Amino acid sequence: MNDSAAVPEVRVFADARAAVPVLLDELRRVIEHGTRPLVGFATGGTFTAMLQALGDELRGRRIDPGAFRATHLDEYLGFPPERRGGMVHELGTHCPPLLDMLRDGALLPVPHEGSPSGLRAHEERLQRAGGVHVQFLGIGRNGHVAFNEPGTSFATGFHVTTLAEATREDARARFAPGEVPRQAVTSGLATIAAAQRLVLCAFGAAKAAAVRAMLHGDVGPACPASVVRRHGNVLVLLDREAAGGIAATTASG
Ligand code: PGA
Repeated sequence: MNDSAAVPEVRVFADARAAVPVLLDELRRVIEHGTRPLVGFATGGTFTAMLQALGDELRGRRIDPGAFRATHLDEYLGFPPERRGGMVHELGTHCPPLLDMLRDGALLPVPHEGSPSGLRAHEERLQRAGGVHVQFLGIGRNGHVAFNEPGTSFATGFHVTTLAEATREDARARFAPGEVPRQAVTSGLATIAAAQRLVLCAFGAAKAAAVRAMLHGDVGPACPASVVRRHGNVLVLLDREAAGGIAATTASG
């Protein structure tokens, strides 16, 4: 696909909370149209409100937990699901029904040990589940998506990566001093781009420069998030601060 053909739809909200109903509607839509579709969740502060709201919907059976399967983008190396600070632990903390899905085999966790055979087996499991229908994504201040740091080739699958210093700084609050991980297992940019639909969120002024680079800079590894412009089915949800550097195409909320 050429870059000019892939202009993502951008919607701007007053604040992050106002985007939550749109995110839940994305989930409802894939559930309505698929047979137990695979949903790719993201972690980080960007998705806390959505995950909490999803927990309420699942507990109240307004969204049927049996109607979809789940996976996620990345995991710190050596962090099994029960280890605080890890991504599966975070998913379960904000959205406890996802832990029931993990127990039932309906949440496919990113392997935390990073062996090549484990990563291959995980990619194959995702394929057997039909591939990811909708992938939720955050973006780092440095333009990363998942843990694909600047410089990562667009051709990568799941791999073990070394975290950028900016990424480790942003992760500091979730770990004891001196315990911020240096490595993670991450979905690659080719894996992410293989999802049928991408829904990327960015909230807060700290993300404005990365959002501008993603949407208006060069498409390439210097800004991993620019991979969204190689995909024809993308929704970008921003708050006003994160949208500060761009001319938004749609105003909402
Ligand atoms: P955040 O992280 O949601 O905590 O800002 C997003 C990211 O780094 O991808």
